[in-house]
Amino acid sequence: MEVVVRPTKPDTSWLAARLIAAAIKAKPQLVLGLATGRTMERLYAKLVQIHREERLDFSLVRTFNLDEYIGLPEEDENSYRYYMNHHLFDHINIDKRNTFLPDGMTDDEAGEGERYEAAIQEAGGIDLQLLGIGRAGHIGFNEPLSALQSRTRAKALTPLTIAENSGEFADPARIPRRAITMGVGTILEAKRLLVLVTGDSKAEILAKAIEGPITSMISATAIQLHRNVHVICDEEAAAGLSGREYYDWIFANEPEWEAYR
Ligand code: GLP
Repeated sequence: MEVVVRPTKPDTSWLAARLIAAAIKAKPQLVLGLATGRTMERLYAKLVQIHREERLDFSLVRTFNLDEYIGLPEEDENSYRYYMNHHLFDHINIDKRNTFLPDGMTDDEAGEGERYEAAIQEAGGIDLQLLGIGRAGHIGFNEPLSALQSRTRAKALTPLTIAENSGEFADPARIPRRAITMGVGTILEAKRLLVLVTGDSKAEILAKAIEGPITSMISATAIQLHRNVHVICDEEAAAGLSGREYYDWIFANEPEWEAYR
């Protein structure tokens, strides 16, 4: 794992967008795992900008989102499908038939999990998975006690997650209580993980995720098991990290970061 701390939120989205753009240029048919949430909005705005200004080509890219709320149709503005169209897909040259999210309206939840896993396999697996971390410590919607080997399935959301995300809903009471999410095991099979975390409200959970013991109580700690992880965070989110000096030293000295310093 490598942890890169940048001064501000815009600096983190710039770096994450540059890394994704480089991955697409290196492999135009990239299979890209996507995340939602406020943190990702800034990153998607940057990707749209790179597409417009530098013609970053998404025409062959395939995407798989981590999760979707159960019970919200695509056209509901709080569905993650709506979010993705609104923040990214409508503004780039991606073929929407190559963009996948779990179907939150399915009447066969178990079958939907299997179907989603099969679609990821059929695409050749995820090359680069983007991740945020919720304050409850989840990746995707893998709430506390999610098995570290879990697969795509329906999960009940914790009261903390419901409280944290309900602000996005015009009527907070309408937030679904459940979601379909890739499992921790599914996420760990991606070839590479890119974790983006910003803001002081995430400082405590980020320190636990990176430097704390691995536990299913905090699914974000599972990223420590992956062989190829980059965590990008801003100063505020980095406030609780004890290994900070070493992380900065790596960023300043490893040749792979030269183009991004
Ligand atoms: C939701 C998503 C997560 C995301 C989290 C953080 O719970 N399922 O994938 O990481 O929100 O969101 P935010 O960036 O708004 O803090």
